[in-house]
Amino acid sequence: MAKIDQVVVWIWGIRNTFQSLVAILTTLLVVTAIYLTQDAGQACEQRPIASDLTSKCDLFSGKWVFDNESYPLYKEQECTYMSDQLACEKFGRKDLNYQNWRWKPHQCDLPRFNATALLERLRNKRLVFVGDSLNRGQWVSMICLVESAVPPSLKSMHTTANGSLNIFKAKEYNATIEFYWAPLLVESNSDNPVSHRVPERTVRVKAIEKHARYWTDADILVFNSYLWWKRPMMNVLWGSFGNPDGVYKGVEMVRVYEMGLRTWSDWVEFHVNSNKTQLFFVSMSPIHESAEEWGGAEGENCYKETEQIVKQEYWGNGSIPEMMHVVEKVLDDLRTRGINVQMLNITQLAEYRKEGHPSIYRKQWEPLTEEQISNPSSYADCIHWCLPGVPDVWNELLYAYISHQ
Ligand SMILES: *[C@@H]1O[C@H](CO)[C@@H](O)[C@H](O)[C@H]1NC(C)=O
Ligand SMILES: *[C@@H]1O[C@H](CO)[C@@H](O)[C@H](O)[C@H]1NC(C)=O
Ligand SMILES: *[C@@H]1O[C@H](CO)[C@@H](O)[C@H](O)[C@H]1NC(C)=O
Ligand SMILES: *[C@@H]1O[C@H](CO)[C@@H](O)[C@H](O)[C@H]1NC(C)=O
Ligand SMILES: *[C@@H]1O[C@H](CO)[C@@H](O)[C@H](O)[C@H]1NC(C)=O
Ligand SMILES: *[C@@H]1O[C@H](CO)[C@@H](O)[C@H](O)[C@H]1NC(C)=O
Ligand SMILES: *[C@@H]1O[C@H](CO)[C@@H](O)[C@H](O)[C@H]1NC(C)=O
Repeated sequence: MAKIDQVVVWIWGIRNTFQSLVAILTTLLVVTAIYLTQDAGQACEQRPIASDLTSKCDLFSGKWVFDNESYPLYKEQECTYMSDQLACEKFGRKDLNYQNWRWKPHQCDLPRFNATALLERLRNKRLVFVGDSLNRGQWVSMICLVESAVPPSLKSMHTTANGSLNIFKAKEYNATIEFYWAPLLVESNSDNPVSHRVPERTVRVKAIEKHARYWTDADILVFNSYLWWKRPMMNVLWGSFGNPDGVYKGVEMVRVYEMGLRTWSDWVEFHVNSNKTQLFFVSMSPIHESAEEWGGAEGENCYKETEQIVKQEYWGNGSIPEMMHVVEKVLDDLRTRGINVQMLNITQLAEYRKEGHPSIYRKQWEPLTEEQISNPSSYADCIHWCLPGVPDVWNELLYAYISHQ
């Protein structure tokens, strides 16, 4: 109040004309208004809750900071349900700095991941990841992150729905963390969770209930779908698989992606109780298959990369902005209908991480040929991510949104 007192003293010290009084009263009003708004601002800042954090700070705009004190958040060998597709250290990777990076948003710090607090939040609840192998990687990461807080006898893993649904359970909490395989979200001929590498991809772009019935009543849903749509044309089937009356038509990439996501968003609008269920959509995960894009040699890829890309706002060829805009448009439309799906905008932060992929350090499902062995970059995986690694940060971002709600 000191400032206002000064203003009052100043008032009586000057000529008491009507005009100056008006001017002074106006000044007083303005000063009071500023005080009031400042008070309101301070009251907001005093609430250290996550929703406040996420409304004030763009968590996705930031930089990677080397931090080998706190990272990795778990050890690869201690993760019971680790996938051989992602266990880079186990498969011979020697440079391990990719495990030591913390994501630092420009305007704030991410809350520290607390496994016990997350499991408390998930008590009697289902957290379900739905999507492709990148989403599966994030699911594995999430289990690795919480596992240390669950004694061995109180955790389990089982598979159901013909292998499409994998369920990790923390018994003490009656909490599950699940993954459902649906790489295009809608029905397709790639829905088999084991053998889905079919040469000709066909999608039933209007059909989702076969998958959705497994996750509609979940408490937290995390979707993704991008890479499987990335081809110039997709075969769309109207009708059902195996039905001779089905009608097929080729539809261009961006268009068919939007058709698929509209089917998904309609399902979410009409079948998911958005009062109960928290919804997330993970943006496209970048690939590093062409070293030329970041100034490397022609014909090379992420193989042998041990450093990040330092160019600010580096954006690779594989991340197609039009496809991201489709997601943004679909989520915006849902918002106008009262349904909030939070995008986990991980594309930019992962673009920098060309050294975070398994490369050749993963299980090879097929024996390697002489030719491949002589040219390792020819079989390097520059799509998925080593664990511990980049997807742990996606889960820290997810944690920031769900932990204090
Ligand atoms: C972290 O990295 C620094 C520099 O590379 C090294 O000197 C230090 O021993 C490392 N600390 C840990 C805990 O690994
Ligand atoms: C983690 O969360 C639990 C449960 O909320 C709390 O008791 C514990 O103190 C937290 N740990 C840290 C390191 O903050
Ligand atoms: C356990 O969690 C499920 C949801 O995953 C819920 O339907 C069930 O009621 C819970 N059981 C108890 C005993 O609370
Ligand atoms: C497994 O697949 C068969 C044949 O496609 C189907 O009839 C059955 O309902 C499926 N089971 C589950 C649990 O989804
Ligand atoms: C969600 O909550 C709002 C406000 O409390 C209520 O009007 C609406 O009926 C609820 N919707 C559902 C599906 O429960
Ligand atoms: C990016 O992709 C386009 C078309 O897909 C291609 O013509 C171009 O050469 C690529 N650029 C780089 C740097 O790889
Ligand atoms: C996601 O991040 C990209 C790049 O940082 C940005 O251009 C885009 O607007 C963001 N999208 C949303 C929905 O926040």
